[in-house]
Amino acid sequence: MKLALGFSVLIATLLTIAHASDPSPLQDFCVAINDSKAAVFVNGKICKSPNMVVAEDFFFSGLNKPGNTSNPLGSKVTPVNVNQLPGLNTLGISLARIDYAPYGLNPPHTHPRATEILVVLHGTLYVGFVTSNPADPNLKNKLFTKYLYPGDVFVFPEGLIHFHFNVGHENALAFAGLSSQNPGVITIANAVFGSDPPINKDVLTKAFQVDKKVIDYLQAQFWMNNN
Ligand SMILES: *[C@@H]1O[C@H](CO)[C@@H](O)[C@H](O)[C@H]1NC(C)=O
Ligand SMILES: *[C@@H]1O[C@H](CO)[C@@H](O)[C@H](O)[C@H]1NC(C)=O
Repeated sequence: MKLALGFSVLIATLLTIAHASDPSPLQDFCVAINDSKAAVFVNGKICKSPNMVVAEDFFFSGLNKPGNTSNPLGSKVTPVNVNQLPGLNTLGISLARIDYAPYGLNPPHTHPRATEILVVLHGTLYVGFVTSNPADPNLKNKLFTKYLYPGDVFVFPEGLIHFHFNVGHENALAFAGLSSQNPGVITIANAVFGSDPPINKDVLTKAFQVDKKVIDYLQAQFWMNNN
């Protein structure tokens, strides 16, 4: 009996570890606090003592202000995750405002820890995501795309490569909900061609099946981060 219980606890623990999303909270809240001297690290941030918690810990202001899109991508993401709003710690949710200049692009990227649900408030966005590699090697990664207008909502499943492109003549505005307190962003071009130190050219030349000069060119670019 004891052994069976121990075994099921072990299985439950393994299942919890294998689950990629944020863990469910085990208390009402766990307001994040910076404590560089703390000897313990949890899966997230350390909790502030509940009797020190104030309403400001659950509050963020300024998402009415447009992000500065004067950059080569013509887009700017303003995140509100646990790093900006400490009350989000352990709650498995966050938010972002995304501004797009005309023809601005939020370039192909993934959130390793979150599904994203996007709502468009102004403008026209061409958005899409690509599925992971199919089990059948004869099939390809599938692209799903959609044109979005004000009021439209689109969901990008967790971890998949996706993009938002403003195809209108005017500024566009969208807000995204994300199923993690700390979704993370991997911008594909930046991670692959702009890493520090750079990925070995032989690796990229073979991976992309191109001439080494193409890799030299790509690695020499400035890959800006719009987050
Ligand atoms: C925690 O520390 C980081 C880096 O020092 C800082 O940017 C952030 O604002 C701090 N967060 C809080 C909630 O104090
Ligand atoms: C926006 O960013 C550009 C480029 O960094 C900068 O020159 C400009 O002053 C910024 N505008 C505002 C309103 O902050």
